[in-house]
Amino acid sequence: MTKYKFPWFKPSADKKIYIKEIKKLINKDKMTMGSSCLKLEKKLKDLLKVKHVILTTSGTSALMMATIALNINQKSKVICTNMTWIATINPAKIMGSKIILVDTEKGSHHVSFNLLNKKIKKYKPDLVYLVHLNGEPTYNSEFEILKKKFKFSVIEDSAQCFPVKIKKNSFCGTLHEIGCFSLAISKLVNMVYGGFCVTNSDKLAKKLISIRNNGVNASPENAKMELSSINGLNFKPSNLHASVGLTNLSNLKHNISQVKLINSLYLNSFRNNKFIKVLNSKKQNSLPIYILAIVKKRKKFIKFCKYNNIELHYNLRTLSETNLFDYKKNLNNSLDISKNVIRLPSGPGYKINEVKKIINILKKYKS
Ligand SMILES: Cc1ncc(COP(=O)(O)O)c(C=O)c1O
Repeated sequence: MTKYKFPWFKPSADKKIYIKEIKKLINKDKMTMGSSCLKLEKKLKDLLKVKHVILTTSGTSALMMATIALNINQKSKVICTNMTWIATINPAKIMGSKIILVDTEKGSHHVSFNLLNKKIKKYKPDLVYLVHLNGEPTYNSEFEILKKKFKFSVIEDSAQCFPVKIKKNSFCGTLHEIGCFSLAISKLVNMVYGGFCVTNSDKLAKKLISIRNNGVNASPENAKMELSSINGLNFKPSNLHASVGLTNLSNLKHNISQVKLINSLYLNSFRNNKFIKVLNSKKQNSLPIYILAIVKKRKKFIKFCKYNNIELHYNLRTLSETNLFDYKKNLNNSLDISKNVIRLPSGPGYKINEVKKIINILKKYKS
């Protein structure tokens, strides 16, 4: 594996503090769902102003737990944007549901609400996955009216949107039945591997807690071998990871300002550039953890970056490009984005002078 001088993402991670924290915990506490897990759940709950946080092993696990909790099965109709990480849709796919894909807006990775709302009226779904990408919340007033009318459930995939404020006291991913977040290494806050569900419903929270514990509704979770009452798996997070999450969460302010600064540096530096166009939002409340760009002659650009020790990420690919879905019609906008967008180096672990160096190199690119 090539090790690049400028990796595509630098997480914020303080090795010394991690080692100190982990040494404190080993064998002194329950190693799954221990005190650090409970502490992290409480901190996330207070931060996002939600009634329940159910910590788990990844954003993918959170999505699976949410899909089980909402009883999605082979009879369900599920609508999802074509432009998302496959983890969003895998749970419904595994359940055998009918899946309807929706295109994005032209030139954007966000779902087209115009098309989504039309598909809701046509198919009357049981579930919609509402995906918020790259720290940019995606809501729509007609969608909310249709939800009330047709009574479908919504799982918000907020894996890339922690913690993005949408209004005073309200955060992206917390407005519908269940929101799913990722605390993976490539996120603003990480616990190396981790994620969580949020809900304001006591009933759903109870279900999610059982699902996390192989469907067994026991408290503390692995204390007794009680009978399982719902389908579930072992989605319990480890205490070591949660302690990393706690340390990382204490750097939240710094991480937010770093990511915002990096975003505005890229936006300002390439505002009038003919060869590199940064697509990120300039909105005040957005928190873009990745720098998405369209470049002229992508293959040549990739070679140029490799030569200059800059690692790139090809961003999300569409669901319809895989051979897992029969649904292939009218998805051209998202296909266009999938084939042309790249992620430039970013992340809260980057120092500003490093980002400036990268930008200076990239400015030399001429297609
Ligand atoms: C949109 C989206 N959904 C879900 C996930 C899954 O999260 P995790 O990697 O924590 O399983 C990701 C991961 O990056 C993602 O980007």
